[in-house]
Amino acid sequence: MMAQKIRGKRARRVVSDAEKAIGKVARAAMECRDCDIWARATQTVFGEGNANADVMFVGEQPGNKEDVIGRPFVGPAGQLFDRALDEAGIDRKQVYVTNAVKHFNSTQRGKLRIHKKPNATEIAACRQWLDREISIIRPKIIVCLGATAAQALLGAKFKVTEQRGKFFESPLAPLVTATVHPSSILRAGDQNSRQEQKRQFVEDLKKIAHHLPASSKRRKA
Ligand code: URA
Repeated sequence: MMAQKIRGKRARRVVSDAEKAIGKVARAAMECRDCDIWARATQTVFGEGNANADVMFVGEQPGNKEDVIGRPFVGPAGQLFDRALDEAGIDRKQVYVTNAVKHFNSTQRGKLRIHKKPNATEIAACRQWLDREISIIRPKIIVCLGATAAQALLGAKFKVTEQRGKFFESPLAPLVTATVHPSSILRAGDQNSRQEQKRQFVEDLKKIAHHLPASSKRRKA
């Protein structure tokens, strides 16, 4: 909700119960030491966005930039994700974005920190935070971005390449679906395949938009 001007004064923004609850869980997650990744990371990167969102996107783990800034999906993959949401007509301000793992897992190579996929133990240790986000936000649709999130939420045998764009009923949300991770598009070998993969990603997002109420959609200019 935006602050409104009432009788010349700026009114206080009303903070919803869901926002308060997410804030409380996010603060608790800042202290999490339930696996070893925290020791290599700068900080916990908790989910953010609309705490009353109809749709929640779940990525793998924060990247290098997210780790430094402390917010999810603000690096190159996040920027691609923002553009794709816009093209699919989904309002970025109405969604909630988070990750299966809340710390950046990396290995040091010289001065560089290289992304390291979290293992099953690390994903399981972090699951408590994702479950709490889901139970507070109660999204109508959960969208897994990439195999790590999809296998965490839809089962270890889930294959994004074969099952992307399909909708599943789940105890987690009325609909759960999966698509590729935006960083896989950035890794495409050449410009043409990058464009084609981005087009397919936007198509998956459009299918998601189709299930969303008008309030989650971007107003046409
Ligand atoms: N990749 C993710 O999965 N999450 C982020 O927040 C950034 C990159």
